[in-house]
Parts: sequence; structure tokens; C-alpha cells
Amino acid sequence: MSETGKIFVTGGAGFIGANFVNEWVRNTDGHVVNLDKLTYAGNLENLAEVEGNSRHTFVHGDICDRATVDRLLADHRPCAVVHFAAESHVDRSIHGPDEFIRTNINGTFTLLEAVRAHWVGLDEGARGGFRFLHVSTDEVYGSLHPADAPFTETKAYEPNSPYSASKAASDHLVRAYFHTYGLPVLTTNCSNNYGPYQFPEKLIPLVIRNALAGKPLPIYGDGMNVRDWLYVTDHCAAIRAVLKGGKVGETYNVGGWNEMPNLQIVKEICAILDELHPQSPCIPHASLITFVRDRPGHDRRYAIDARKIEREIGWRPVETFATGIRKTVQWYLEHQDWVANVESGAYREWVSTNYSDR
Ligand code: NAD
Ligand code: DAU
Repeated sequence: MSETGKIFVTGGAGFIGANFVNEWVRNTDGHVVNLDKLTYAGNLENLAEVEGNSRHTFVHGDICDRATVDRLLADHRPCAVVHFAAESHVDRSIHGPDEFIRTNINGTFTLLEAVRAHWVGLDEGARGGFRFLHVSTDEVYGSLHPADAPFTETKAYEPNSPYSASKAASDHLVRAYFHTYGLPVLTTNCSNNYGPYQFPEKLIPLVIRNALAGKPLPIYGDGMNVRDWLYVTDHCAAIRAVLKGGKVGETYNVGGWNEMPNLQIVKEICAILDELHPQSPCIPHASLITFVRDRPGHDRRYAIDARKIEREIGWRPVETFATGIRKTVQWYLEHQDWVANVESGAYREWVSTNYSDR
């Protein structure tokens, strides 16, 4: 797929989507149409870098709204759709799964139907080059025991939370649209991301934020749950590589080759903060670590076998955890206004100020 045409991105005001959009506009000559509902997780401040750039069109809307999606596809005639939009936080899915079913399952279905109608109407050349890339998660595979081999693309789906079940359902719909209708889909199943613009409900930004505020650092259970961490720009590079070189109908696991227990992650963040923020009244920050009640149904371990994407497409992560986490802590130290605005809801007021009369 060429990087000079127009692409249609969903959820591009969220954490990974915004990193992807910013990089796409920065590094290609292409145009991005960005549809985002601006839920609590969507934030136009994440897109400040592309504000006013004629190669970025932001549309405030819902992927469940078929008329809006139809209109955007007809008006912009994109050569690819990259689908990030989702409810993404496991704990929120436990407290209230409804929105996860609506956006992740019904929204993906609505999008697939609209894209299918658009795709069949394209001329043969455009139809052949078109791609629908579905951004999914390793959580669909379920939980591993310590001695189990990492997830490969053929691992059976065993989702355990309402979030992972809703993502699994969306993956199955995407797969079905390839097998039944021939829609040229690609699916990526990625491990835990971290980096700039991650909403401070997820472990790494939450720990940085709380440590800076002198608040407890909550560790669920015994802190020995293992995740495979990937710096967000490496994930974005993997998506670009799959768009360009992936085989339609295939799924690609994306991971950092970087399994670590949560407690170790938190201790590393604390050590970096001790070093980079020596004026903090809370040194050593690790003294703030507090064990709290576990997440219900908490998956013990995720690990990604990312050999397929390396073998077939040549993608490998560039960042190690040591380099990525240092950049991340530095970013949050330098962007405390961003965190404060997210918390105060000030960015929502900005949206209303800037967009209500447009
Ligand atoms: P996020 O929660 O930060 O952002 C989600 C974005 O989707 C927000 O901007 C939100 O406003 C938008 N959105 C939600 N519902 C919408 C709707 N109905 N219509 C239009 N827009 C809507 O999520 P993220 O962490 O950036 O994750 C992006 C995608 O990557 C998700 O599909 C997630 O499942 C997947 N993923 C995330 C991770 C991770 O570690 N964060 C890892 C693997 C896969
Ligand atoms: O694996 C990919 C998934 O990673 C993505 O699909 C999800 O969208 C993303 O949110 C993430 O899910 P996790 O549940 O793994 O991420 P979270 O940051 O919420 O938690 C990481 C680990 O840290 C997990 O084992 C739970 C634990 N945790 C989390 C929080 C918020 C704590 O111990 N304390 C906390 O306060």
C-alpha cells in the first residue's frame, strides 16, 4: 500500500491512534481522515502536532453511526482504514461492560459493513490495493502459565474479561468479512503499549502520575502478573509495516520481547524518577508502593511470539524497555500540564470552544 494516498483512521485521538496519526503526517506525504468520538480517552491535545495541517482532517463522530461513516468514505475515498477506536481499559470493562459491547463489537460491525459497501463500489485497481487493518490485542488469547510458550497467531482464543471478549468478537467479525466477502483485512494482535499520551488510568502513566503527586502506587494482588511491554512508536511502525507488506486475511502478533512482572516495572519507574526528579519530597518513590485487592479474573501472564512479523515483514522493535521507559518518564515529567488537563477535563472545554461553532 502506498503512503501517499488518503487513509481513514478510527480512534486517532486516543493514545496509540494519536501517536500513529502524528507520525503518519510527519513521515509521509499522505492525508489522514481521523474519526473519533472523543470519549474520556480521546483528547485533541494529543493531536496538537497536526493541528492546522491540511493533511489531517479530524471528524468528531462515532463508529456506530453508519451514516457518518458512509459519508466519510464516500467523500474521502480512502485507500485504507486503520481501526483503533475501542473502549480499551480492562478495569472499566469490569465495572461497566456495556460500552465495550457497543463500540468494540457493534461499532466494528458497523464499520465493516460500511467499508464493505464502499469497497465493492471501487474500481478493480482500487479494490485490489484497499486494506482494512484491525488493531487488536494479545488479551484475546487468554492467560499463560509461567512455563507456557508465548502466544503464536494460531493460539486458540480464550478471552477472560469483558474487554478481551469484546475484542475477540471484533477479531472474529473481521476474519469473517475476509472469508465470506473477500474484504482485504489484516489484523494485528499487540501486547501492552506504553509511551507519550497514554491516559493515566493504565499502569505506567498512573504510577508516574501518582509518584509525582506523592500518592500510593497501587499494585494489584502480589505484583507478579507478567505483561510484554512495547514502546508505542514501535507498535505504530509495526502497523505501517503490516499495511505495506502484510498478506490479506492474515493476523500478525506484535510484541516487545520484553516480559516483566508489574512490581519490577513499578520499581524501575521509581528508580528513574529518583534520578530525574531529585527535588521530589517522596524519594525513594518505591516507598509509595502499596499492594491492593486484585483485579477480578486478573490474567496472570501474557507473552507474544513475534517471529512471524519479523520473518515475513521484517519488523522488530527498536526500543528496549530501558530506553523506552526512560523516554516515557521524561515525557510525563515534561508534560505535567497534559496530565493536569486530562484530569481537570480542561481539554473538553477546549473542544467546545474550538469546535462548537464549526
Ligand atoms: P484509548 O482508549 O487510548 O483510545 C481509544 C480511542 O477511541 C479514543 O480516542 C476514543 O475517543 C475513541 N473511541 C472510543 N469509542 C469510539 C467510538 N464509538 N467511535 C469513535 N471513536 C471512539 O485506546 P488505545 O490504548 O490507544 O488503544 C487503541 C487500540 O489498540 C484499541 O483497539 C485497543 O484495543 C488496541 N490495543 C491497545 C493496547 C494498549 O496497550 N493500549 C495494546 C494492544 C491493542
Ligand atoms: O495486553 C494488551 C492490553 O494491555 C491492551 O489490549 C489494553 O487495552 C491495555 O489496557 C492493556 O491491558 P492491561 O490490563 O494489561 O493494562 P493495565 O495498564 O490496566 O494493567 C497492566 C498490569 O498492571 C495488569 O496486570 C494490571 C496491573 N495494574 C494495573 C493498574 C491500573 C496494577 O497492578 N495496578 C493498577 O493500578
